[in-house]
Amino acid sequence: MNPNLIHLIIYLHLLPNLLTLPPPSSAASLALNCGSKDGGKDADNRKWATDSKYLVSGGKSVTSTALTQDPSLSSDVPYMTARIFTGETSYKFNINSTSRHILRLHFYPSEYPNYNISQSYSIVSADSILLLKNFSAYITAEALSQAYLIKEYSLAATGSDNMLVKFKPMDKSFAFVNGIELIPEPELFDDQAGLVGVAENSGTIDGVSANMQNMFRINVGGQYIPPTNDSGGLMRSWYDDTPYMFGAGTVSHKANITIDYKDYPEAIAPVDVYRTARSQGPDPNINKQSNVTWLFNVDANFTYLVRFHFCEYQVDKINQRVFEIYLNNETAFATADIIAWTGGKGIPTRKDYAIYVGDKSGDEELWVTLHTNIDLKPEFYDILLNGLEIFKISDSKSSLAGRNPVPSEMMQKQLIANREAYDPDAIRVTHVVGGAMGGVATIGVAMALVFVIRRRRQVAGTDSGVTSWLPLYGNSTSKSSVSGKSQCGSSLSTDAVCNSRYFSLVEIKSATNNFEEGNVIGIGGFGKVYKGIIDGNMKVAIKRANPSSDQGVNEFVTEIEMLSKLRHRHLVSLIGFCEDSNEMILVYDHMGKGTLRDHLYKGNMITLTWKQRLDILIGSAKGLHYLHTGAKYTIIHRDVKTTNILLDDNWVAKVSDFGLSKTGPNLNQNHVSTVVKGSFGYLDPEYFRRQQLTEKSDVYSFGVVLFEVLCARPALNPSLPKEQVSLADYALQSARKGTLEEMVDPHLKGTIQPEAFKKFTDCSLRCLSDHGLERPSMGDVLWTLEFILKLEAKGDETRNEKKSGSSGMVEVPIQSSDMIAMHMNTLSLDDDEYDYDSDDDGNAFSQIVDPKGR
Ligand SMILES: *[C@@H]1O[C@H](CO)[C@@H](O)[C@H](O)[C@H]1NC(C)=O
Ligand SMILES: *[C@@H]1O[C@H](CO)[C@@H](O)[C@H](O)[C@H]1NC(C)=O
Ligand SMILES: *[C@@H]1O[C@H](CO)[C@@H](O)[C@H](O)[C@H]1NC(C)=O
Ligand SMILES: *[C@@H]1O[C@H](CO)[C@@H](O)[C@H](O)[C@H]1NC(C)=O
Ligand SMILES: *[C@@H]1O[C@H](CO)[C@@H](O)[C@H](O)[C@H]1NC(C)=O
Ligand SMILES: *[C@@H]1O[C@H](CO)[C@@H](O)[C@H](O)[C@H]1NC(C)=O
Ligand SMILES: *[C@@H]1O[C@H](CO)[C@@H](O)[C@H](O)[C@H]1NC(C)=O
Ligand SMILES: *[C@@H]1O[C@H](CO)[C@@H](O)[C@H](O)[C@H]1NC(C)=O
Repeated sequence: MNPNLIHLIIYLHLLPNLLTLPPPSSAASLALNCGSKDGGKDADNRKWATDSKYLVSGGKSVTSTALTQDPSLSSDVPYMTARIFTGETSYKFNINSTSRHILRLHFYPSEYPNYNISQSYSIVSADSILLLKNFSAYITAEALSQAYLIKEYSLAATGSDNMLVKFKPMDKSFAFVNGIELIPEPELFDDQAGLVGVAENSGTIDGVSANMQNMFRINVGGQYIPPTNDSGGLMRSWYDDTPYMFGAGTVSHKANITIDYKDYPEAIAPVDVYRTARSQGPDPNINKQSNVTWLFNVDANFTYLVRFHFCEYQVDKINQRVFEIYLNNETAFATADIIAWTGGKGIPTRKDYAIYVGDKSGDEELWVTLHTNIDLKPEFYDILLNGLEIFKISDSKSSLAGRNPVPSEMMQKQLIANREAYDPDAIRVTHVVGGAMGGVATIGVAMALVFVIRRRRQVAGTDSGVTSWLPLYGNSTSKSSVSGKSQCGSSLSTDAVCNSRYFSLVEIKSATNNFEEGNVIGIGGFGKVYKGIIDGNMKVAIKRANPSSDQGVNEFVTEIEMLSKLRHRHLVSLIGFCEDSNEMILVYDHMGKGTLRDHLYKGNMITLTWKQRLDILIGSAKGLHYLHTGAKYTIIHRDVKTTNILLDDNWVAKVSDFGLSKTGPNLNQNHVSTVVKGSFGYLDPEYFRRQQLTEKSDVYSFGVVLFEVLCARPALNPSLPKEQVSLADYALQSARKGTLEEMVDPHLKGTIQPEAFKKFTDCSLRCLSDHGLERPSMGDVLWTLEFILKLEAKGDETRNEKKSGSSGMVEVPIQSSDMIAMHMNTLSLDDDEYDYDSDDDGNAFSQIVDPKGR
């Protein structure tokens, strides 16, 4: 035979094989920028490939590019392009048949030409595992207040050398995806996880064969670790744990120690997870009496694998630190002793436990609780945790699909309010969030929001068996004994009890005419605020916690503690409280003129003059300055905004709402790491990024207030063009362009002297500096405002002398604030109306992010 022919035959024989060879090497990680022509690089310089060559023929799909780019997107790639599936379509990936894989799906439910994303409902599967069913990325993102979503799965080896990932639209809708990652994962689940809550030793979960979805991955006591800093190239994100903490009384640490992985692959978790941890405070007696709990919202009817990462670095002997581990109040392990497990400092270990979460009361939670083991009498009564991962395990039908979230009531109200208040196509909350914060920061919040979202389904008066709202006096109402029955480390100090008056429910009822609806002057997430009369003629405001409100007892106690110790002309005073019959009631001074916001742009007829505004700002600045410097500890307000500045009958400004306050830096820490609380639009970007609180966070928020007062517009107004939505961003931009004057409230035009204007805006802009260090102190701000007021007064004198009658000056001559007050009083329509927790645009943040919600 002709040797050439033989050659040819061999070639022909090989050809089909050559054609079907997988494009890249099968063992490598894949990152696909779906719908893109040529992949691209993301913000971390990571390469993404195009998805088209992995599509199995016969599917129905088109590519599309998003019309809008949300400012909170961490990167264009892979979010700005999408593949839209109009019929069942699969991707086929060649994989290592003996390896576990991480599959990560990215969704950006934005606007795409010709497709209404709110009508997309997808079914997604990977081989025989159902990952998502009737999944609406739009609803999920909306409920979580996120611009984009990432779903991560860890899939067991199937023995097959390819994986089929299938997208299918529900009924007449369409499916879509923006990015797909497929990463081979070393075997990290080669342990049997004991099933908690069933008869002893009767159940274990085999990790090796489990198909799972990662629900939470947190770096306990540490900071956010981005995918590029993950170990083993697995590109996982590790989030800060503070949003999930329930209760107080813990401290976070960072150890300077070399981590020795011993038998574990480094992929188990990065060193930063093991170098940071959380433990309890220094007082063993408090520790013995308190639990440390993290709280997560999960889908019902699934078993969860909970992985604890431990690494000891403080003690090195057995029985120095021993603690109990509970999952949903069931003992997972009673005698956890990290040194007994690892043999020394700096050596990590991980422990897996599994628990089934059923469908009780429609509010599915996973409680992870650690408590020091008292029986074993360890040397230190304390706990330690470094990291935590929670995985959902596929059910008996090989499904991992949960339901679309139901937005919390508050979020729904918020969305409806936004839609009603502004044009029908109002920018969604997601955009507002992004617009306000910008950049990567949103990820942190997103995570914070994740688990709060379905909490609010809680029904009023569920049979939770609550005996007392307040850990104040146990069950008795006697004033004399302050019970040590503390929950989460919070109980009232004797000090607080002595400094505030105790009211009986009978007194409160008579003051409010039995909580008559006609006396309601405000409604917040906390409950209702009533006006009332005590002692015959004293007007008071009575804040009553709604029994169904889940605002933490902690916040209630904080408010009493703070306010009873702090007495200042520019702080709202607490008169007393009532705890009878499980009520949580606070009694305050009555603030006849309501909130500052009411007098800026909330439809009031009268307009405050420039000098009145300065007076109010000076009062508020004095209040805050006192908080920061006047008390024994620095107190950070954390929620400075125009609805928390109240005005009394004489227009004296008083700072209110201390529910969120924390006593500030002590020891040599110069920040307090804490849950991000505060209001959208007012939130310090630095605090947001690093979740580190300093008094400069209040200064930032006050900077927003300064502009709000100058411009008479809300901190966030979604009905405005995108660049103007956030007042802070808009002000900074305008300052760069030199167009600040255009923002000024038209009512003030011509009444502010140029020099005063310059001083005022310079100061306000400095308050908005990105870095806390560059911001002035509250004392500096106060000084500047007083200086400006003097400038204006001087200006008026000269003006009055000249009597030039300049047409631009609409301001009335100087008058004392009391005179102004009288004048205003006669004009005011409903001067009694105010709310402590108003529900308007965007100030809901504190309520959303608080783990216990309100
Ligand atoms: C496939 O995965 C197994 C288990 O993770 C690993 O030992 C093996 O080296 C991998 N094979 C290839 C070709 O990467
Ligand atoms: C998209 O669909 C939703 C609900 O089905 C509808 O309210 C909305 O107006 C639609 N948007 C567009 C741009 O058609
Ligand atoms: C990520 O790693 C780089 C290089 O090791 C480091 O400079 C950076 O601070 C790390 N980022 C975080 C958020 O840990
Ligand atoms: C960490 O420990 C090493 C060795 O003990 C020491 O050289 C280094 O200064 C320490 N770093 C810090 C930040 O304490
Ligand atoms: C959980 O299972 C029960 C019983 O099968 C069912 O009634 C319930 O709707 C399920 N809950 C969820 C959230 O799927
Ligand atoms: C665990 O116990 C606490 C009270 O100790 C209770 O409030 C909570 O609902 C319980 N959690 C579960 C999941 O049963
Ligand atoms: C801590 O939690 C466990 C499990 O929920 C519970 O049994 C115990 O009473 C709690 N202890 C305290 C002091 O709250
Ligand atoms: C799909 O999800 C939507 C929104 O959550 C829900 O209203 C609808 O009933 C679901 N459809 C099915 C078939 O489950």
